[in-house]
Amino acid sequence: MNNSPLDTAIKAAKTAGNLLLEYQNSQRNIDIEEKNLNDLVTNYDTESEKIIISILKGDFPDFGIIAEEGGISKISPDKPYWIIDPIDGTSNFIHRFPIYCVSIGLCLGNDHLCGVIYNPALNELFYAQKEEGAYLNGNRIRVSGCLKLKEAMIATGFPFRSYDLLDRYMDCANKLLRNCHDIRRAGAAAVDLAYVACGRLDAYFEYGLQPWDAAAGAIILKEAGGTVTDFGGGNDYLFGRTLISSNTTIHEELLSIISNNLPHKYLSV
Ligand code: 2AM
Ligand code: CA
Repeated sequence: MNNSPLDTAIKAAKTAGNLLLEYQNSQRNIDIEEKNLNDLVTNYDTESEKIIISILKGDFPDFGIIAEEGGISKISPDKPYWIIDPIDGTSNFIHRFPIYCVSIGLCLGNDHLCGVIYNPALNELFYAQKEEGAYLNGNRIRVSGCLKLKEAMIATGFPFRSYDLLDRYMDCANKLLRNCHDIRRAGAAAVDLAYVACGRLDAYFEYGLQPWDAAAGAIILKEAGGTVTDFGGGNDYLFGRTLISSNTTIHEELLSIISNNLPHKYLSV
């Protein structure tokens, strides 16, 4: 019997997640390299990516692949492609701070087909398929019922790749803080998106994201009733490197503060 893409993505995420747990639950050493400013990669990132790609390719040899640590296969317009982050939240992982995950999305053109986010440290598996709802460990999830930005718990990330935007970002955070309940910065974009999907957070936004940070989380969030856009309110959140996500109800309020204070498009550095 053939696996569905979702079943295969879950198998890959869990197998890779078990590898990550070996480090989390031990005193083992880890090899760390700085790819770019503040951007770390470990031997676990590369090993996790190899495991994921071999499982996905085993079941779906024709699908394209975009993966953070360099695993790329040809993308054809008529074939689905996987977007993989073998560890989202590597800095947290290194510190054994248990907010990190494996993130695997599947797209066809600009359409999301399915997504899986697995946090092995907390044993939380989030997944969704197009038009079939979103789930956490088998239970259906929905976004929060928060009605006003003033009552919202929002997550973000800092622009750690380049500090050129830091002052503007902090000014925007200052305005937001005065207009929401509070702000969190947990350090793993895919986990933040999953948390908006299940109502633990009311919104999440970040500047400078990569497609592998957003691909799985975006479909899980949409299937849970949430909204995801870029900083201009458009659809270019996957490759355009700016993303706002919310429970839908507070989207316009949040978008108006962000779009009035931050660039709508990513400024390359
Ligand atoms: P990563 O661990 O896959 O690189 C968006 O914030 C993404 O950037 C995170 O999901 C995380 O993805 C990475 N990131 C977050 N904070 C970071 C930091 N301080 N240094 C490096 N990468 C960070
Ligand atoms: Ca990563």
